Amino acid sequence: MRIVMIGTGYVGLVSGVCFSEFGFDVTCVDVDEKKIERLNAGEVPIFEPGLDALMQRNTAGGRLAFTTDLATAAGEADVVFVAVGTPSRRGDGEADLTYVEAAARQIAAAIRPGTVVVIKSTVVVGTCRRVRDIIRAARPDLDFSIASNPEFLREGAAIEDFMRPNRVICGVDDERAEQMLRRLYRPLYLRETPMVMTTLENAELIKYAANAFLAMKITFINEVSDLCEKVGGNVQEVARGIGLDHRIGGKFLHAGPGYGGSCFPKDTKAFASTGRRHEAPQTLIEQVIAVNDNRKRAMAERILAELGDGAKGATVGILGIAFKPNTDDVRDAPSLEIIPMLQAKGVSVRAHDPEARETASPLLPGITWCESAYEAADGADILVILTEWNEYRVLDFAEVTARMKGRTLMDLRAIYKDDDMAGTGLRYVPVGRKPVEG
Ligand code: NAD
Ligand code: UGA
Repeated sequence: MRIVMIGTGYVGLVSGVCFSEFGFDVTCVDVDEKKIERLNAGEVPIFEPGLDALMQRNTAGGRLAFTTDLATAAGEADVVFVAVGTPSRRGDGEADLTYVEAAARQIAAAIRPGTVVVIKSTVVVGTCRRVRDIIRAARPDLDFSIASNPEFLREGAAIEDFMRPNRVICGVDDERAEQMLRRLYRPLYLRETPMVMTTLENAELIKYAANAFLAMKITFINEVSDLCEKVGGNVQEVARGIGLDHRIGGKFLHAGPGYGGSCFPKDTKAFASTGRRHEAPQTLIEQVIAVNDNRKRAMAERILAELGDGAKGATVGILGIAFKPNTDDVRDAPSLEIIPMLQAKGVSVRAHDPEARETASPLLPGITWCESAYEAADGADILVILTEWNEYRVLDFAEVTARMKGRTLMDLRAIYKDDDMAGTGLRYVPVGRKPVEG
């Protein structure tokens, strides 16, 4: 069985490597020559825990290869996955399907009869049929199948999510595609992972509805968090209290600076846009988008309010730039919204992130990059925890206070307990409950 994975980004690379780990022959294709060169040199171009070792093992085992030559690879494949990007289109928030459609045209020219083409990219409802039309227009006599197999992995936990998913969603409309997907996911099936066989449209909708629902859950708890701060509540206890109800569930109820990343922001926009286009408005999600955008700005204003009249010329240390821990991805990260707002008011920003410096540097001009959390605290009037990397969970507060000029620790992820602050001399300002004087 030969698998070709088109696009070696977070999803394509992880999926390709994991399928090779299942024992299949996988060729990963990308248009980015530098990326393929690095991969062929054994270098993983993204930070994703565990990916390195898995990639090395399967390349050495002869089951995993990388190329820019889509035509040759696809011409020898039994199944071709499309895992290229589907970013937001400027202006209207619709998903930009340019890359998917370009890949479809390239696939059309290359595949042999009997190939199954599987769309793994997150695509709006109707796209699989559109891809089929593109291939049919180019090769009217070709016998092939189309399928939808959306991916639910999270960055930073991608391998575990791929290997142990809650479910596998397969949109198919013929027997060959169904059998192919059953065969590919057989290793998971043996672990009793539910396989949902459904239509192309349902599979496409499930992906967007899942992301929109999760984004809504986060946004809900963020607003509850604001209320907790005002009335003496504690959002973490409220979240635990409601999350124990199985109908609600405890996951994705962590209040924070607003969701970011390469998926929730663009997928909520695309989902809302699809609703408008089909005259079935997704008003809840429209509201989620607006509340989340405001929240990122509100977080910057919160930091500026702590600085009061002294914002101009003040120094703020920022811990965490990536949109979440365990990734170097900064796409739509709250940091990209918050830091420029501080800079616009004359604040100097010192920043630390264990992995995202390289990806964020071009997007955040004028900040001072630091080698450690403590260096970011040097001379800072306020220190802000923006991303909950593990290394920020055990800060030595004596060192932090010795290095800081001011005394305020703002924690936009609320990773510390009030008791942890006792005797530190810090004013601790977490999201979701009242500040404490340590
Ligand atoms: P990415 O931007 O990291 O990678 C996409 C890759 O595709 C790039 O390397 C690009 O060079 C390559 N590419 C584009 N056109 C190509 C072509 N014609 N031939 C070969 N390669 C081509 O994207 P990503 O984050 O991996 O996301 C891919 C898709 O998966 C998106 O639709 C996204 O919404 C979805 N998704 C992403 C995640 C995630 O955690 N990042 C999770 C689930 C689903
Ligand atoms: C998300 C989904 O969780 C994946 O299932 C999905 O496959 C992926 O999008 C996608 O479609 O691409 P990801 O963006 O990697 O995965 O990261 P998440 O862990 O979902 O976090 C997204 C954002 O929400 C981050 O900014 C995170 O800090 C924030 N978040 C998450 C919260 O603020 N609170 C929470 O409780 C959970």
